Amino acid sequence: MSKICLCLTANTIAKDLELVEKYRRYIDLVELRADCLLSSELESIRRFPEQADIPVILTVRRKTDGGYFNRGEAARIVLISKALAFAQTDRRKNFAYVDIEDDLDIPSLEEVARAFGTRIIRSFHDFDGSGEKFLSRVESLFRVGDEIAKGAIMPSNIDDVRTVFQAAKSMHGRDTILLAMGDIGQCTRILAGKFGSYLTYTSPLYEDESMAAPGQIDPIELNERYRFREMNLDTQIYGITGYPLKITSSPQIHNDAMKRERLNTVYLRFPAESFDGFMRLANEIGLCGASITVPHKKSVMAYIAEQNPVGIIGACNTIVWTPHGWVGTNTDTIGFSGSLLKVMNRSDFKRQKMTIIGAGGAARAIVAEAARLGAKALVLNRNLQKAKEIAERFDFKYAHLNTASEKLIRKYNDIIVQTTSVGMDPDINKDPLPQYKFTGKETVMDIIYKPANTKFLSRAIAAGCTAINGYDMLLRQAKLQFEFFFNRPFPE
Ligand code: ATR
Repeated sequence: MSKICLCLTANTIAKDLELVEKYRRYIDLVELRADCLLSSELESIRRFPEQADIPVILTVRRKTDGGYFNRGEAARIVLISKALAFAQTDRRKNFAYVDIEDDLDIPSLEEVARAFGTRIIRSFHDFDGSGEKFLSRVESLFRVGDEIAKGAIMPSNIDDVRTVFQAAKSMHGRDTILLAMGDIGQCTRILAGKFGSYLTYTSPLYEDESMAAPGQIDPIELNERYRFREMNLDTQIYGITGYPLKITSSPQIHNDAMKRERLNTVYLRFPAESFDGFMRLANEIGLCGASITVPHKKSVMAYIAEQNPVGIIGACNTIVWTPHGWVGTNTDTIGFSGSLLKVMNRSDFKRQKMTIIGAGGAARAIVAEAARLGAKALVLNRNLQKAKEIAERFDFKYAHLNTASEKLIRKYNDIIVQTTSVGMDPDINKDPLPQYKFTGKETVMDIIYKPANTKFLSRAIAAGCTAINGYDMLLRQAKLQFEFFFNRPFPE
C-alpha cells in the first residue's frame, strides 16, 4: 500500500515536531526538508528521527530543484553525510531514507547511507515539463537494486500529467514515486495508491490555507475526503474537468456521498485547458465518469456516443463510460428548474416572462428548460451570435447585452436569470447589468455561488426581489449526476 508522507518545511525543528504530532495518525512517514531550517538548527538534525519517532526522509533540496539550500554543494554534501553518519545501534533512530538527486554522483555519500541502513530515494525534478522524456528519465534512475526512483515534473499541460500515469503503469512493481507538481498535477498525488507509487507527499494546511508545494494536499483531507488508505487497484475514478476550475464544491459533494454509500470510487479535480487533452487522460486512467464545466460543456458533445436529451440542448455537463462509449446528459436543466420553481412555489413557468443573461454552456441548459416549462424568454449576451443560436431554437427573443438592455428587460422581468461568470470570485465587484434597476417584483437567480451574493444579486435583494444564488442548483445537479453515475439515489 502506498504510504503517506508529510513534508516538514518549518524553519525550526520544534515546529516540525509539533506538526508530526498533529498529523501522526494520518501519516506513515515524514520528509525533513532541512533546506527550510534556520542554519542554527542544522547541527541538531541528526537526532530528528529519534525525536520524531516515525520513519524520516532526509532531504536538503537545492534551489535549482525548487528548494532553499543556498550555501553551495560542498556544504550540502557535508550536511547530509554528517546527518546520516550518526551511528545508532538501533537503526530505527537513523534516517530511514535520504533523497539524493540523480545528478549527484558521490559514491562515499551512498556508502554512508547504506552503512547506516538508510534507503536512497534517487530523484529528479523537471521544471520544464518535458513530458516526452519523463519515462526514459525515470528508467535511468534505477542504478542499484534497493533504491527508490522518484520523478517529479512540473506539467505544462494535462498531457504531461498523463505521461506520469503512463510511466507509473510501466514500472512493474519497482519502487517508484512519480508525480506531477502544481495544481493540475494534484490528481497524481491523490491517485498514488491506485497507480502503485511507493508514497505520496502531503503538506500541512497552514493558517493562510497555503501548502508547502502547490498541488500538495493536507493529510487529513487525503484520508477523510479521498479515503487514500482504502484506495486499491479496483478503485474507480470519477472527476470534474473545466478550466481554470479554481472554485468547485463538486469533489466535496461527490466524495462525501461515495463515502456514505461505501463505494470503491473516488472523485477528483482535473483542471484542463484542452478538453481533448482531458479525454486522453481519461482513457489513460480508465475514468468511469465526469462532471464537465466551464468552458467544456460544448466541446464534450463531439465525444458522446448517445446523445439523448443533450442533443437538443447542445451542452452536456455529465458523462459516463459504458460498453457503447461515453453517454452524456445534462443535469443543469432539472437542477435549475427545481431550484427556481421551489422559491417561486410553482410547478412550471407558464405565463412567466424571463430574461436569461448569457449564452454559454449553462445558459443552453437553462434556455431549454425554460422553454420546456412554458416560459417566454429573452436571451441577452455580449456575443449576439451565440444568443441568436440558442434563442432561435425555442422561438425566444435575443439581443445584445449592453446599456440598451434595460428597456427590453422591462418586458421580460417576471424572472431574471444571470448565467455569466461576471461577478464570480475573485472579480466580485463586477456586475453584468449595472444599468438595470430592479423594481423589487422580479424573481432573480444568479447561478454563481461564490460569493454567495454577487453584486448583481445583492442589488436585487436590496430592491426587495425574491433572490437565490446557484448553490441549490449546484447541489441538485450534483445529486442527479451521482444518480446518473451509479444508478442509485443520492444519499441524503
Ligand atoms: P458556462 O458554461 O458557465 O455558461 P461559458 O460557456 O464559458 O460558461 O459561458 C460564459 C458566459 O459568460 C457567456 O455568455 C459569456 O459571454 P460571451 O458569449 O459574449 O463570451 C459570458 N461572459 C463572460 N465574461 C463576460 C463579460 N465580461 N461580460 C459579459 N459577459 C461575459
